[in-house]
Amino acid sequence: MIMIIMKKHEKKYHKHVPVLLQESVSQLITDPGGIYIDATLGGGGHSQKILSKLNQSAKLMGVDQDDEALNAARRTIGDDKRFSAIKGNFGYLKRIIPPELRGEIAGILFDLGVSTHQISEGSRGFSYRQEGPLDMRMSNLQGVTAYDVVNEYSYEALRDVIYHYGEERNSRPIARAIIDARPVETTLQLKTIIESTVPDKYQIKSIARVFQGIRIEVNRELEMLRNGMEQALEMLEISGRIVAISYHSLEDRIVKHFFKAGNHTGKIEKDFYGNPLTPIRSVAKGIITPTEEEIEQNPAARSAKMRVAEKIKTEEG
Ligand SMILES: C[S@@+](CC[C@H](N)C(=O)[O-])C[C@H]1O[C@@H](n2cnc3c(N)ncnc32)[C@H](O)[C@@H]1O
Repeated sequence: MIMIIMKKHEKKYHKHVPVLLQESVSQLITDPGGIYIDATLGGGGHSQKILSKLNQSAKLMGVDQDDEALNAARRTIGDDKRFSAIKGNFGYLKRIIPPELRGEIAGILFDLGVSTHQISEGSRGFSYRQEGPLDMRMSNLQGVTAYDVVNEYSYEALRDVIYHYGEERNSRPIARAIIDARPVETTLQLKTIIESTVPDKYQIKSIARVFQGIRIEVNRELEMLRNGMEQALEMLEISGRIVAISYHSLEDRIVKHFFKAGNHTGKIEKDFYGNPLTPIRSVAKGIITPTEEEIEQNPAARSAKMRVAEKIKTEEG
């Protein structure tokens, strides 16, 4: 009876199809008895697969900042004593994961961006296809909403968000039109403003880019990704791996630089004698992308790029 009542009150979770599932899990697991972190648990699709490849002495911690994702993942995975779901932002990984595990982690997965659930749930405000409030927060602990960005930011700040995070060339007229239309309350209102500002043939792409830019700003996605990469490297054991799946060029650039050099400039530091001090090295050559078959079955996978790196011992230890 209790189960029935709970189910009535549970929000429907729009199923997220995990991207590059086989490829990511096979690259991640080097020790079937090791300790792993899924830093972007979502609906638990990747975690479920990881657990199926681990033995009974292994551990997997799944992190997500979104309560709806954590609840869905707990339902997907069920009762498994090897698994724990942890609420938190991977930008603060060191604070979330018990300190005694620093240097002990065999692999960390980042499947970046938003889930199908977040996009499909109109009330979350991520989608320009559905009416909803301008929210776009992945976590209810975050202060700034899309409404604040759209209605409170100065012209310059709004233009920069659209230009730098949305990579939208028409950032100036769009920012101006948004400001002229204030207050802007909903996702479809915002969509209409963009439509009325750019030529027909660019509309869909411009709308997607503006929404992406605002989402990145609200969730401080790039800053959290940089922090997440640094902290993941500290958490790993030597030879432990980071697998990162990104969905747009801003994310991929951060991952690429970090995997090349272990810092955010992408420049390899050298010691006095010219020996590289890089604490990380790419494992798979270049990027791994979904097959045509995967994209056909799951169009959300089309922009995915996966990179894999492992921690190496430096002279400094
Ligand atoms: C693409 S989905 C992951 C889907 C998951 N791999 C699966 O198979 O269901 C990304 C998830 O990461 C979460 N997320 C994004 N950025 C995060 C961050 N900085 N900290 C914690 N979770 C984050 C989102 O809330 C979302 O649930």
